[in-house]
Amino acid sequence: MLWRNMICSLFMKRVILFLMTRMMSASELRRYLLALFMLGGILLCYLFWNQPSTPGMGASSYTNNNAQKVYIPYLTKSDLRWSWECEGQRCVRKEVGKDDRHTSLATCSMLCGSTQLWPQPTGPVTLGSRSVVFNHQQFQLDTMVSEPARSFIMYSFAAFNSNVVNLVQNVDYTKSKSDIRKFVVKISVFDAKVVRLLLTTDESYKLVVRPNEDNDLVAMITAQNVFGARHALESLSQLIWWAEFENGGMLKTLRGASVQDAPKFPYRGLMVDTARNFMPVDNLKRVLVGMAANKLNVFHWHVSDSQSFPLELPNVPQLAKYGSYRPDLVYTVEQVKELVEFANLRGIRVVIEVDMPAHAGNGWTWGPSEGLGDLAVCVNLQPWSLYCGEPPCGQLNPDNPNVYDVLEKIFKDLLEMTGESEIFHMGGDEVNLECWAQYRNRNNTSSYVDLNEVWGNFTKEALKRLEKANGGKRPKHVVVWSSNLTKRPYSVKYFDKNSIVVQSWGGSEWTETPELVAGGYNVIISHVDAWYLDCGYGRWREHGEAACDPYRTWQTVYRHQPWNSDVYYRKQVLGGEACLWTEQVDEKSLDTRLWPRAAAFAERVWSDPPVDRSSMSINEDVYTRLSTHRDRLISRGLAAEALWPQWCSQNPGMCL
Ligand SMILES: *[C@@H]1O[C@H](CO)[C@@H](O)[C@H](O)[C@H]1NC(C)=O
Ligand SMILES: *[C@@H]1O[C@H](CO)[C@@H](O)[C@H](O)[C@H]1NC(C)=O
Ligand SMILES: *[C@@H]1O[C@H](CO)[C@@H](O)[C@H](O)[C@H]1NC(C)=O
Ligand SMILES: *[C@@H]1O[C@H](CO)[C@@H](O)[C@H](O)[C@H]1NC(C)=O
Repeated sequence: MLWRNMICSLFMKRVILFLMTRMMSASELRRYLLALFMLGGILLCYLFWNQPSTPGMGASSYTNNNAQKVYIPYLTKSDLRWSWECEGQRCVRKEVGKDDRHTSLATCSMLCGSTQLWPQPTGPVTLGSRSVVFNHQQFQLDTMVSEPARSFIMYSFAAFNSNVVNLVQNVDYTKSKSDIRKFVVKISVFDAKVVRLLLTTDESYKLVVRPNEDNDLVAMITAQNVFGARHALESLSQLIWWAEFENGGMLKTLRGASVQDAPKFPYRGLMVDTARNFMPVDNLKRVLVGMAANKLNVFHWHVSDSQSFPLELPNVPQLAKYGSYRPDLVYTVEQVKELVEFANLRGIRVVIEVDMPAHAGNGWTWGPSEGLGDLAVCVNLQPWSLYCGEPPCGQLNPDNPNVYDVLEKIFKDLLEMTGESEIFHMGGDEVNLECWAQYRNRNNTSSYVDLNEVWGNFTKEALKRLEKANGGKRPKHVVVWSSNLTKRPYSVKYFDKNSIVVQSWGGSEWTETPELVAGGYNVIISHVDAWYLDCGYGRWREHGEAACDPYRTWQTVYRHQPWNSDVYYRKQVLGGEACLWTEQVDEKSLDTRLWPRAAAFAERVWSDPPVDRSSMSINEDVYTRLSTHRDRLISRGLAAEALWPQWCSQNPGMCL
């Protein structure tokens, strides 16, 4: 098997041009081809002699920051049965003899036809066919960027480094011989002042990896700002893998690569509900780590609901005091601020939603005892099915002027805690008019008015208070859930299309989204039948419908492309958001509910790959890359669910 001991490649560059749906301009293409041609000319036949593997090093343990990590014992060569060979752009599992060269699946996958990047870049990608071994101590950051971008970059680089270190399976590996002298990561950003994300922030980046004459490997990152640079570091980390058969295990990366990338949509959200079940803040950090790995950029935090109010607010401490499940099951101001920072440094903004006027009950019961009257009505009222969609009921009292004073304080606190004033989420879903009607009857207030108008008036006053809390001006984009109020005739009366964004969560076949777009509204799409990740776990109560069965598979999530038909004006679709309501989720199953399906969603909103609408089939490459990406998420400490039997990972293309 001598031939397998060397790789002789006349054309040093294997070229993969991903034109995706957008074509490169002719001049760009010419530039690329020219660059490739020159590289090809310089590089001649190259012989790569396989170093014999060092004999087994025995079981090893190694601790890094990720203290819980369990390292697998190093396998000796004679233990190994499988090796992978690239045949026709697919890795084929082969049984090997004692003295044969072993190529791991990871190594084969990285060098065989697919980018292994997730989400798939939207610009041209060129990957070299050769790889080098190195260790993470060889990393060197090289950047001239000034503050405040500089600190951001330092942090991003540290996060990148720890993602790479998490791949390491063998304590002693830094002693092994490296193919390069240093691994220099050179970062330049155009605008060093931008360190907060806006919808208009340019998240594009360019990443070029190539060796220099000193035998350093140089990864050159250029971006408009730190957010693009961070994405580039994420992509770079995805071009690095653990090669278990190499000298007893080494990090490996491509010797040459070039990636140009930019997202298709500026708003790429993930919503998590912490009101139905409380989840300690570290779990939310893990959500953010997963989001960063998928280049998602908005963490929509549905913090409160009728069940509980677990958020400490400095100006209204009563809400958490009365509304948390237990005094210690609250998010403190400090924790929220830290989470916001943690998110921002990962290219993610945090939008906290205190839902209203519906989905508010527990936490709002202290009005009478403080002389403020009923702030919420129907709280825990039975039979619940008459007054709300799920127990327990509760809705803010639109007739009590004190409610608006409380709202203004909440808005002030939220704006202050998140520092987020471009996007503000006002909730606004599932108002039950029957709840208000019965309360008004009891209080001898006329309920013979159109209660939608009462709701509309509530919203108008709440918006006014939001403006007051925000220094007299409305946040640029105020998001509300779609509802009867975002439909005609109410929508035109209560929602200014220049500032209101509607999060459209109805069924994908409904006329809701196209009507909103036609009405001039910007929308964020969260179609319940595609992007609700909580569905499919059966009923958690005896009465009422099963909560939104069936389960949305990752393929369902991935295939959903709700902006292809004529009625959608792409520029009014700010993006999409996958939602996880947590009636049947807490921190024990959070990761598996989210991943890898939220990753499938992320590729839809970052890359928006074409969908074959007749067959609705998904390419083999997507399965292969997602399988690799799932392992990557695991390496970062996320309990991502298995996609399929491991045999299918080991035998790419054989399970479709
Ligand atoms: C409503 O009207 C009835 C009959 O006039 C009266 O007995 C009752 O006290 C009123 N309720 C309230 C809350 O004002
Ligand atoms: C009943 O309605 C009146 C008039 O709208 C209002 O002043 C009063 O606060 C309401 N009662 C309660 C308990 O909200
Ligand atoms: C809504 O507010 C307007 C203006 O304040 C008022 O005229 C109208 O009666 C209110 N509608 C309802 C149903 O309360
Ligand atoms: C919306 O309005 C329609 C028509 O008035 C009504 O049948 C429906 O129940 C309302 N939807 C909700 C969620 O209240």
